[in-house]
Amino acid sequence: MTSLFSDSLSEIQQAATIIQHGGIVAFGTETVYGLGADATNTKAVEKIYRAKGRPSFNPLIIHFAELEHLFQFVQKTELAYELASKFWPGALTLVLNQRTDNPIKISPIATANLSTMAVRIPNTRVARQLIQFSKKPIAAPSANSSGKISPSTAKHVFQELNHKIEAIIDSGPCQVGVESTILDLSRDTPTLLRPGGISLEALTSICGTIEISHPIETKIISPGQLSSHYAPSLPVRLNCIHVTPDEALLAFGHPIEHTGLSKNLSINANLEEAAQNLFAYLRDLDAQGQALGLKGIAVMPIPQIGLGLAICDRLTRAAAPRTI
Ligand code: TXA
Ligand code: MG
Repeated sequence: MTSLFSDSLSEIQQAATIIQHGGIVAFGTETVYGLGADATNTKAVEKIYRAKGRPSFNPLIIHFAELEHLFQFVQKTELAYELASKFWPGALTLVLNQRTDNPIKISPIATANLSTMAVRIPNTRVARQLIQFSKKPIAAPSANSSGKISPSTAKHVFQELNHKIEAIIDSGPCQVGVESTILDLSRDTPTLLRPGGISLEALTSICGTIEISHPIETKIISPGQLSSHYAPSLPVRLNCIHVTPDEALLAFGHPIEHTGLSKNLSINANLEEAAQNLFAYLRDLDAQGQALGLKGIAVMPIPQIGLGLAICDRLTRAAAPRTI
């Protein structure tokens, strides 16, 4: 049975003790709920892969509470430091070369034996206190079954991972709602591996040129980019300007005509609001649509600017053919 904790100090302390003893705990970050384990403990990290059904070649993001701690594990470049100072704590993950001179080792299972490591400092009190109290770097993927929709509430985590993990800390719904942006700084040119909660425009203002990596070409580098992901059970149809009666509608802005099941990501066409609602609404439409015997989910067009890039990325994967 999975314990449900509140976000009080004493319950975060209990969760930290579980982490220190090799257990796995889900906790809210500003992006999505993560499933955390002590990143230096291989057995604990293996539990994450088992609970999620995640392929072992897909590495995890390592979460820290302080910059000084983080840079003991990865090489500090000028650009990394500049981005870190501007965006951390926050929804940015940097892929950096690992340091080899640190006596404390991150489990190679967490980094899938790569020479690089994905790192970030999350921006919720709960996440940072969990890391501080456990005194460990925390490996944490999104707290969903592999290939499914990421969780933006504790309830989503409970529905999928109850009995598979030791505890969930409920800190309410996530503020950003889509995962962190992943920027790879280990190559000659900074490369965007996943659009997310920090916009490409904001990063470009600091980095200058950013290469955009294409999922098909980068399977090995970032397996989370495999095309079918975030998959609801119902098929998803994108950029719709008409809906059929046997479809649910996921609207954005002024909705198109539809009398059946529908949800609007943001009636004011606000991309931050849409990102916040995205995963919960996809889950709702999927569950209710199936109960009503509907055949699919039709999604209205969403502009690919700001957070729209991350939203469209997740929806494209949700709509991709289910080959894996
Ligand atoms: O917002 C987030 O990033 C959330 C919260 C919990 O922090 N975490 C998250 O983790 O989305 P996950 O495991 O669902 O996605 C991490 C992605 C995967 O696509 C993985 O392949 C990639 O990061 N990744 C991890 N380490 C990497 C590395 N060294 N090089 C390239 N990609 C890496
Ligand atoms: Mg994930």
